[in-house]
Amino acid sequence: MERVLPFRFDEEKGVFWLLDQRRLPLEEVWVPVRTAQEMAEAIRTMVVRGAPAIGVAAAFGLVLAHLAGEDLKAADHLLRQSRPTAVNLFHALDRMRPHWGDPVASLREAFALWREVEETEKAISHYGAKVVRGQVLTHCNTGPLATGGYGTALGAIVEGFRQGRVTHVWVDETRPYLQGARLTAFELMKAGVPATLIADNMAGFLMARGKVDAVIVGADRMALNGDFANKIGTYALAVLAHHHGIPFYAALPLSSVDPKLPSGEGIPIEERPPEEVLELRGVRLAPQGFPAYHPAFDLTPHRYLTGIVTEKGVLYPPFDEALRDALGLA
Ligand code: MRU
Repeated sequence: MERVLPFRFDEEKGVFWLLDQRRLPLEEVWVPVRTAQEMAEAIRTMVVRGAPAIGVAAAFGLVLAHLAGEDLKAADHLLRQSRPTAVNLFHALDRMRPHWGDPVASLREAFALWREVEETEKAISHYGAKVVRGQVLTHCNTGPLATGGYGTALGAIVEGFRQGRVTHVWVDETRPYLQGARLTAFELMKAGVPATLIADNMAGFLMARGKVDAVIVGADRMALNGDFANKIGTYALAVLAHHHGIPFYAALPLSSVDPKLPSGEGIPIEERPPEEVLELRGVRLAPQGFPAYHPAFDLTPHRYLTGIVTEKGVLYPPFDEALRDALGLA
């Protein structure tokens, strides 16, 4: 698959370059990041986004803090405040902590994390390709742009197409941020996979007409019982798929599981500025002064999941046992 990666590190100059995902697909603009403070701001404003990608970006934020001579505790704190839902961010920063004060070890750890993302996603694509078939529907963006690797749900879809199992993809536009329309469409086009864009509210109609054989999405944080947070709109899709008897999968690295949470209730759901609902690329949609609400994620109960695609294989119910096993927990 031709991959467009969301970042690259110029080791010589100590600059981490981010492909500005807010401008895609119309423009490919690279933004230089030189400090942890700039990295936290880039994550908060979604220059870089997607659970595994913000984990890698945060790890390199700590590398930059060393290079720029920033206070490491303050840098870690800033990065932890950047976005609340994807647990990969916190796992990545936990991994960097033992290397505080050692710039070489910190750089080595950040690269190791990035390499692990790639390896993990090769495995997720491999296992995911075996469960998707025919016309597949997906939500948000879970490709290389969201991860820095090969993608999770989208990795499985592209591999499924390569193997002749997937014939066509329905791409939810994913209001209000349009990760589907802007980023998934861009990645599927580059990968040469036949796909069609739909508005989010069209999924039920397509399912009722028998035009969806499987749904596969990513996850930003999964609890130990399989409940998970993913892009707003995922829950509605899960309920629809359940109603129509369509298999519904989440594809994620085990680093997206929060072993501290027995169920999804404790997952913090990010609320983003209402302007992101009220405006489209700076153009006002609703009357001036009209309020809007923007939860960026929702919570899908595990009972709607057919299976969880991980780097260790596809997990089936009971998910609490399967997840504990996969994580090596007692
Ligand atoms: O708000 P975003 O664009 O960071 O949300 C991304 C998602 O919800 C993805 O589905 C999730 O991170 C899984 S990505 C592999």
